[in-house]
Amino acid sequence: MTKALLIVFHSKTGNTRKMAEAVMIGTKHPDITGVEVRFVTAQEADAKDLIWADGLILGTPENFGYMSGMMKDFFERTFYEVEGKISPLPFAMFISAENDGTGAELSIERIAKGYPLIKVQPSIINTGELTSATVLKCEELGTSMAAGLEMSLF
Ligand SMILES: Cc1cc2nc3c(=O)[nH]c(=O)nc-3n(C[C@H](O)[C@H](O)[C@H](O)COP(=O)(O)O)c2cc1C
Repeated sequence: MTKALLIVFHSKTGNTRKMAEAVMIGTKHPDITGVEVRFVTAQEADAKDLIWADGLILGTPENFGYMSGMMKDFFERTFYEVEGKISPLPFAMFISAENDGTGAELSIERIAKGYPLIKVQPSIINTGELTSATVLKCEELGTSMAAGLEMSLF
């Protein structure tokens, strides 16, 4: 059975978008054939996307020590709509920050408990300019999440 992987991200100046695109590329690894991927901004994403998903990858900048307002809005808009309707969803996240990123990570981890979302991969946090090493890690994250879903590892 085809598995459904949802990528939800917010990006104002493009850094998180580049990470999201690398994650997306990783999900398209030629050995993975049984995973359908949706790539949506936090603004566009809704409860139907979460109900559709078997796995979730979230990407946000760190803004004022927290996830971006758009990502928080996504959680606020969907929480009651998905409550009781989704099984615990395996998820992972990537964060773009100027110099920290841990506040954004913690803010998502706290909210994840309520959905519930189960973290299955370490977070990727890029600080400062996006490096090619981070881009590679993002591709690997996409591949490992898609492969894990396809093989029902989570
Ligand atoms: C309003 C605002 C608040 C920010 N707050 C933080 C912060 O608390 N910690 C940090 O490390 N970077 C902070 N930054 C920097 C962004 O996280 C960083 O530039 C990030 O790469 C932006 O991602 P984007 O290009 O996907 O929008 C902030 C940027 C903005 C615009």
